[in-house]
Amino acid sequence: MKSILITGGAGFIGSHVVRLFVTKYPGYKIVNLDALTYAGNLENLADIDQSPNYFFEKVNLLDVNELDCVFAEHAITDVIHLAAESHVDRSIHSPLDFVYTNIVGTVNLLNEAKKYWKEDMENHLFYHVSTDEVYGALGETGFFTEETPYHPNSPYSASKASSDHFVRAYGETYDLPFVISNCSNNYGPYHFPEKLIPLFINNIINKKPLPVYGDGKYTRDWLFVKDHATAIDTVFHNGKRGDTYNIGGFNEWKNIDLVKLLIKQMDEKLGNEPGTSDELITYVKDRPGHDRRYAIDATKINKELGWKPSVTFEEGLSETIDWYLENTEWLNNVTSGNYQQYYENMYANR
Ligand code: NAD
Ligand code: TYD
Repeated sequence: MKSILITGGAGFIGSHVVRLFVTKYPGYKIVNLDALTYAGNLENLADIDQSPNYFFEKVNLLDVNELDCVFAEHAITDVIHLAAESHVDRSIHSPLDFVYTNIVGTVNLLNEAKKYWKEDMENHLFYHVSTDEVYGALGETGFFTEETPYHPNSPYSASKASSDHFVRAYGETYDLPFVISNCSNNYGPYHFPEKLIPLFINNIINKKPLPVYGDGKYTRDWLFVKDHATAIDTVFHNGKRGDTYNIGGFNEWKNIDLVKLLIKQMDEKLGNEPGTSDELITYVKDRPGHDRRYAIDATKINKELGWKPSVTFEEGLSETIDWYLENTEWLNNVTSGNYQQYYENMYANR
């Protein structure tokens, strides 16, 4: 029987992956390991946390003894590694937190996998979930493929790139079976409101300014989080060991165009006159080292593994807004306390 350790399962993407695996594979034991930082929230899993095949371990990746206990106690057969510090703006202020969790934490996890799986490596899998940001920035044209050289520009992407290198190095050096996927920007329910889409949804609800960095023409490729979860399911079961898959939706948006679509959908849903929230758009000081454009070529995962996104951006965005409007208690819980301080510090001098 598979006993899969999913790290970061109380976070945004991790909670969708845990939910999918717990419900779709009742024969698998799913162990969610999470330190419950500001970004981790067990409320994200309230609907499945009584399932008999679900287990939670509040453990920090930096605590090697605790990690070791989890591997021993649950006889872990596979890892899907999502736990990370994930916000670029925070990495600009506190790069070392990203070095510790994203690099040292990943190496700690690799060491445990190597130790416990050494007798029969071929029966196990270490799946490392990474980002397209490791490839750096694109100009007006072109896409990131799996062969694009790494060129990280932020402390966040540098730490993720480093963790990808360590995973490949453990594959080469110790024959650890691994697979890596690099995904574009996600959006959807349970997204912490420090990232663009949930932050702006929350600010539109509260009629607060929408802080658009720089000229607003920075471009991102957006994927609905439930589609990322199905891609992870596909790569976990069918991906070639030792290989890399780019995951994306061929769905590029300039930030300002995205914000206008968000405003249009939200004003409709809130019963406002069209364009009411336009006046909230506020151009602010740019992010240092801001990558101009990301765009994923997701041909390989589509051709080789048959995966493709299930919703259009308009559909996914509408479902996301509905979720936030129906889950104001969740939103209020995560935006109370330390969040207020974070918001003051981050946007005070912009
Ligand atoms: P998130 O910040 O919402 O969640 C991260 C989770 O990791 C939280 O539950 C947190 O408590 C946990 N965590 C943090 N430090 C930990 C530690 N030291 N030990 C144990 N747990 C710890 O992040 P997310 O957006 O869900 O991203 C998940 C993964 O997917 C990350 O590896 C990220 O790099 C990658 N990714 C994210 C996106 C995106 O758009 N959000 C896109 C591509 C890839
Ligand atoms: P973000 O959601 O932080 O994701 P990432 O930096 O990993 O791509 O930001 C998405 C884009 O939105 C990015 O170009 C920065 C921009 N942005 C703003 O303009 N204002 C904001 O308040 C935030 C959080 C992001």
